[in-house]
Amino acid sequence: MLKVIVTGSTGLVGSRIIELLGKEFIFLPLLQTHIDITDKDDVWKTLKELEFDLFLHLAAYTNVDGAEQNRNLAFKVNKDGTKNIMDAVLYKRKRLIYISTDFVFDGKNPPFYEDSLVNPISTYGESKLEGEKVLAGKAMIVRISYPYRKTFEIKKDFVRAVRTLLEQRKKLSMVSDSLITPTFIDDIAYALKHLMQNYTNEVFHINGGGALSPFAAGKMVARIFGLEEDLIMPVAYKEYFKKKALRPQLSDIRSKKNTFYRMKSFEEGLQFMLRS
Ligand SMILES: NC(=O)c1ccc[n+]([C@@H]2O[C@H](COP(=O)([O-])OP(=O)(O)OC[C@H]3O[C@@H](n4cnc5c(N)ncnc54)[C@H](OP(=O)(O)O)[C@@H]3O)[C@@H](O)[C@H]2O)c1
Repeated sequence: MLKVIVTGSTGLVGSRIIELLGKEFIFLPLLQTHIDITDKDDVWKTLKELEFDLFLHLAAYTNVDGAEQNRNLAFKVNKDGTKNIMDAVLYKRKRLIYISTDFVFDGKNPPFYEDSLVNPISTYGESKLEGEKVLAGKAMIVRISYPYRKTFEIKKDFVRAVRTLLEQRKKLSMVSDSLITPTFIDDIAYALKHLMQNYTNEVFHINGGGALSPFAAGKMVARIFGLEEDLIMPVAYKEYFKKKALRPQLSDIRSKKNTFYRMKSFEEGLQFMLRS
């Protein structure tokens, strides 16, 4: 069995990967209490003592709005932290997978494939792209977008955030003139399983089947979970992001390379959550 070190193993995505694939890989979670990826000496010292085949790097500064005020920290974690890990992993001649984001694109001319032009419009997106640049051609880069899962106490994804507000019968505004590509995290885990077992130093998109507007996505959540659709109001992209970090407006993410795992559409993902 492959031995896989995981950073970000307590996070929204990483914790589910470990839950689902724990019988097929030997995972060695590196918590932030074990390793601060921004501390080069700490990274080298920790990795020197560990035996592993593959390093799955999910740890990141992920607060998109917060990154605008904490630019240095975002770059320190997402760029410098990634470089520290890459140097130590490659020194040991091991394999590295970096989880990245659709926020490396500007969202202006969709769709966006693995080889589309990158041009981030937020600090978070810039910092994740810098992480990509550090290891381009030397590691695998896997871009994911708008991940969601059925349960996770620590952090709400957008689906659970919408569900909670609708359950509380709160009104909410969702953008109607933009596109997102929601991705069911269980599918990310199973697609990654294939990539971990068939490693190459390339870029992959692991994204859900089909883009839709956040407004349409919210309505679908309401419909499928039996909540009140009319609580959701449309709002324009320009209006909604007036005081927030910009997200790519038309984030229709697609893959030319994922021929190995069928990703669910948003509707299929929600139906699966409802039934499971
Ligand atoms: N969530 C999304 O919408 C989304 C979308 C596209 C791509 N991604 C990418 O997917 C990956 C996982 O995202 P996520 O949402 O699962 O993340 P998350 O829930 O925010 O968790 C981030 C993880 O990174 C760890 N971490 C942060 N700074 C660290 C440091 N200096 N040293 C060591 N560990 C550190 C955190 O540890 P603690 O728990 O100890 O703080 C936590 O486990 C990230 O690379 C992110 O950029 C996420």
